[in-house]
Amino acid sequence: MNSIIDDQSLASAGLVRMQWFRERMPLITEVNQLFQEQQVLKGMTIAISMHIEPKTGFWVEGLLASGAAHIYLVGCLGTTKKDTAAYLASLPNVTVLAKEGDLYEDHKRYLKMVMAHKIDLFLDNGASLILAHHELKPGWNPIGANEETRTGRLLIEKSGVQPDYPVIVIDDSPLKQTFENALGVGQSVVDGFMRTTSLLVGGKKVLVVGYGYCGSGIAKKFRGLGANTLVYDMNPVHLLNAKTDGHWVGELHELIPAADVIITATGSFNVITEQHIPLFKEKVILANSGHYGFEINVEEIKQASQSVEIVKEGIERIRFAEKSIYLLHNANPVNLAGADGNPIEIMDMGFALISYSAYRIMTNVESLQHGLQPVPKDIDSQVSKLFMNSIQ
Ligand SMILES: NC(=O)c1ccc[n+]([C@@H]2O[C@H](COP(=O)([O-])OP(=O)(O)OC[C@H]3O[C@@H](n4cnc5c(N)ncnc54)[C@H](O)[C@@H]3O)[C@@H](O)[C@H]2O)c1
Repeated sequence: MNSIIDDQSLASAGLVRMQWFRERMPLITEVNQLFQEQQVLKGMTIAISMHIEPKTGFWVEGLLASGAAHIYLVGCLGTTKKDTAAYLASLPNVTVLAKEGDLYEDHKRYLKMVMAHKIDLFLDNGASLILAHHELKPGWNPIGANEETRTGRLLIEKSGVQPDYPVIVIDDSPLKQTFENALGVGQSVVDGFMRTTSLLVGGKKVLVVGYGYCGSGIAKKFRGLGANTLVYDMNPVHLLNAKTDGHWVGELHELIPAADVIITATGSFNVITEQHIPLFKEKVILANSGHYGFEINVEEIKQASQSVEIVKEGIERIRFAEKSIYLLHNANPVNLAGADGNPIEIMDMGFALISYSAYRIMTNVESLQHGLQPVPKDIDSQVSKLFMNSIQ
């Protein structure tokens, strides 16, 4: 199957850009060596759904070198870096299905194409592969799967799917929750906001919707740069937590009119919708950091508008009769669409969790039960120690 990407001529630029990232990922360097030495994936066909950016590229190289017969790599919505996609598509036995401007329908089409092949291992993000496999019932099961993120777990639970193969939920790892979601996403969302808007953060009223691991990190980092932070969470315990952390809290409809910037981080869909239009301040900026842009009902909001125009790369002005508002990156995750995603050290750790979990699936699947389960505790401990040493 041929790759579907934006521009194959960017392959060498993608390889050159990866160098900075590659040199700063000691855990993945080590795990890639282990995989290669032991040929952990010898003859296996792997399907991956992941944000395609340089850190992912280095990790995928390692999977390929460990003997994988073929890797199908499907991007996530709105986060594909064209040069990395081109470089990976230039490698033998890799099919990349990811364009920068892909819509949900494209993503679904790619998943269908992948499911036409018998896959041995799913490395999933947002439950794309797991739910497509359930829906399409291709007549085979993978040996096992990883699911990377909170949204993926929520979607699997909500759909009532009970995979009859092991699914290790990386997001259930305390390492991922604390360091990737809170620390990494906090920093990278501010980075994505700043790179996209070139605005001063200090003095802005920033409303963070969702005060879980990601939301609490985002609010903390914005406040660190001088923003006045407002928080809404539908869970009263998390709301209380936000209050005692020093943020201004309230009901969503009370906070929206005060906000200069609104950022969603919930893992739920339709959190900001058409019904909030009357509450928006003139020139409010909307952004999302959750896995899917559906946290903001962009379609509904745009349909209710008079016009939509691109005013800067990654920024759309949506005009209504009485006001204009701005939307960043069509609500795709602002840290990946507007910047390079999480810090390198964080994804070095995050990909190590994925790889060691995949190693467990490939070498000792009998130790795992069918269905969703957390990262085995010994893997958490091992990666914690490696991460600690790597950042000293
Ligand atoms: N952009 C990235 O790099 C990145 C990285 C990790 C996770 N994520 C995504 O970020 C999202 C949040 O992840 P998390 O780890 O913080 O999850 P979490 O479960 O820790 O937190 C989500 C919070 O949102 C709240 N919430 C849910 N629905 C809500 C609603 N309708 N209104 C208000 N509050 C609501 C929940 O009560 C919870 O406190 C998920 O979509 C996850 O997949 C993105």
